[in-house]
Amino acid sequence: MDAQSVVKELERQREEARAGGGPKRIEAQHERGKLTARERIEVLLDPDSFEEYDMFVEHRCQHFGMADKKVPGDGVVTGCGTINGRLVFVYSQDFTVLGGSLSETNAKKICKVQDMAMKMGAPIIGINDSGGARIQEGVDSLSGFGEIFQRNVLASGVIPQISVIMGPCAGGAVYSPALTDFTVMVRGSSYMFVTGPDVVKTVTHEDVTHEELGGANIHSKHTGVADMAFDNDIEALLQIRRLCNFLPLNNRQNPPVWPTDDPADRVEMALNTLVPDNPNKPYDMYELLLKITDEADFFEIQPDYAKNIIIGFGRMEGSTVGFVANQPMEMAGCLDIDASRKAARFVRFCDAFNIPIVSLVDVPGFLPGTAQEHNGVIKHGAKLLYAYAEATVPKITIITRKAYGGAYIVMASKHLRSDINYAWPTAEIAVMGPEGAVEVLYKNKIEKPEDKDAHVEAYRDQFASPFAAASRGYLDDVMRPQNTRWRLCRTLGMLKSKKVETPWKKHDNLPL
Ligand code: HXC
Repeated sequence: MDAQSVVKELERQREEARAGGGPKRIEAQHERGKLTARERIEVLLDPDSFEEYDMFVEHRCQHFGMADKKVPGDGVVTGCGTINGRLVFVYSQDFTVLGGSLSETNAKKICKVQDMAMKMGAPIIGINDSGGARIQEGVDSLSGFGEIFQRNVLASGVIPQISVIMGPCAGGAVYSPALTDFTVMVRGSSYMFVTGPDVVKTVTHEDVTHEELGGANIHSKHTGVADMAFDNDIEALLQIRRLCNFLPLNNRQNPPVWPTDDPADRVEMALNTLVPDNPNKPYDMYELLLKITDEADFFEIQPDYAKNIIIGFGRMEGSTVGFVANQPMEMAGCLDIDASRKAARFVRFCDAFNIPIVSLVDVPGFLPGTAQEHNGVIKHGAKLLYAYAEATVPKITIITRKAYGGAYIVMASKHLRSDINYAWPTAEIAVMGPEGAVEVLYKNKIEKPEDKDAHVEAYRDQFASPFAAASRGYLDDVMRPQNTRWRLCRTLGMLKSKKVETPWKKHDNLPL
């Protein structure tokens, strides 16, 4: 073939690859409200930044009539590009080609960009829309999944890994997203489950739809498998761009610093009246979060799951901070199994990627009850304690009101190597609330209700202020709420040069 013919053939094959499964299947994809694999990449990346690899890869399967079912690219689009000028690697499964199913060669393409992301130290974003392992290939496609999972594990804590679910994601395929740092789903067009409705019906005789079994609502509200759910592909992809703006490219870099006009010394008088006089009245922790972050820009992770704890990214003086905050508006802000798991994974992500952690504490304790105890709140609560205790990034804690019992220790107390612990004047730090304490201390000893009131008052006087803890040095300072932002900014600046050593170990044994 002469050079001109090669160029012609190249163009023909490129056109064929770009056409994916053809106009009919693309139309069907659009009718379902879904973008194609290539359209998704266009929305995700900066204009004209996409560099595609392996466009000419074809599968090698000869069975079940596959020899003449070849499409260049083999059902997945892979490459790299930029988000706000910063390098990312991407793969996007093309449902219009053999249902986006994963073949041996298609998996090799994914593994190649995973390897490149690791080599270059850049995040990888996987867009999932696939019928799973390519059934005609048998064990070859299974091996492909295994290779992807292995790379997910090696990349964990080295580069940010983000999974976007924009169609089916079933069987073993779900384990790649589960191994990555963030999973985003689209409402109405994506689902994730290990075994589908038909198998469920056969085995357990339950009738359940795809949506009920593993739709975006189930996973973003009830299981926590998905970190976020959005209404359509475009919104989901634009939010991933926003998320990437908070993250470092890899674990050897600091998060990016973005210019901000928000003054670091901004005083917020409204915070002085945020905590109500009545200790049993809730208030909204989002008000505090939005008042202290740069330009009130807060990117929440898992906003619909375990709402008694809030986690997410904000910025202070342009630098990313991971916020963990009890939410008194939900279950009085107590810790339970779901909240502990949610916050623990977030704390570990921040620690792995050099993101300082600010904890806003108003916690009346762990949720009591057989449901919690019998489902292992001991092990799950220990995850959060462990995560905070092992974290070596800068850690700052602000106790706004209650910090009771074990939950006081768990929520980034001084005893878990937190660097600077502040309290507002409204802080109460004790083994338990005054009523509960008096019940235990004076069991069978109280004759008149007035006596009980007096004991409650005495306990409150002793512990319903930050001074007992401050007098021991468990708090570094008590600050007026109005000053929270500038005190935080200044302290984060001081902590920039923090260095701590941990004892040598192969790896830890986190209470899983
Ligand atoms: C080969 C597949 C395929 C697969 C879909 N297709 N899944 N081809 N291997 N896994 C093909 C279909 O044959 C069809 O081709 C085209 O893709 C579109 O699929 P439809 O069924 O027409 O689309 P839809 O009605 O939207 O249904 C989508 C679906 C369904 C729900 C995903 O296709 C399905 O149930 N697929 C099989 C899912 C599955 O069991 N996968 C294996 C999971 S186990 P034509 O040419 O007819 O249009 C697994 C193990 C991984 O993945 C283990 C890792 C450790």
